[in-house]
Amino acid sequence: MKNNRLPLIVGAFISIALIVAIFVVYNYKNNQVNSATDEQPKTTETNKTTEQDSTATEKPDNTETPAKPEQQPDENGYLPNQTLPTEPTYINGILLANKIYPLPSTFAPEENPEAREALNQMLAAAKQQGFDLVAFSGYRSFEYQTTLYDNYVKRDGQAAADRYSARPGYSEHQTGLAFDIGERGKEDVWLTEEFGETPAGQWLFAHAQEYGFILRFPQNKEEITGYMYESWHYRYVGKEVAKEITKKNITLEEYLGVK
Ligand code: DAL
Ligand code: ZN
Repeated sequence: MKNNRLPLIVGAFISIALIVAIFVVYNYKNNQVNSATDEQPKTTETNKTTEQDSTATEKPDNTETPAKPEQQPDENGYLPNQTLPTEPTYINGILLANKIYPLPSTFAPEENPEAREALNQMLAAAKQQGFDLVAFSGYRSFEYQTTLYDNYVKRDGQAAADRYSARPGYSEHQTGLAFDIGERGKEDVWLTEEFGETPAGQWLFAHAQEYGFILRFPQNKEEITGYMYESWHYRYVGKEVAKEITKKNITLEEYLGVK
């Protein structure tokens, strides 16, 4: 009896060994293919930073144009009963923060290093031309924007404050990609329209695009951007996008197709 079973046991053992061997070989090959695919985005990403223009705002997810809101904005530009989202809005890889597309309260990316590097290059170039520019406000947390906005409302009232200060969750400063810029020694014209008329302000307006920045709230665009002219507020979008927006003399909202 025992001897009769031996060929059966050996046969079963060989079959199992064969199945295990096939499984191991298949898995090994498959892993090799997957590793190659996984590296693809890294290569693309590296190419973007070196060869093309990188915006540092790019995200692989959530890049479709969002649905147009059904409600009309109120007299201050905000949607009635709007609540803050759980995810920020990226359109074609560009992070958008405005009165219609706010940020999560928990969104706290800190200052964007690529934007800071571009800013430093721009400030150095300005200095070479004799303009001592300084970024006096950059990344702001949700909490800090709350304090700022509340103080402005106390000082000027909500309707007036809403024209120049974003409610918490709605500020581009919370993206880490925006800077308020002025000239050292000319603090009296910081945060005023007049800065845009100074030689330093004009140099900045003319050359910002070369470093990937746009003047975010231009003159006569309040209907579109939601804010009055801010000669000092620059937003980093990357060189390619900044050049196109500047050439076409449009706003970020128009460029992204949300206005
Ligand atoms: N001053 C701009 C609109 C802000 O508060 O984000
Ligand atoms: Zn600003």
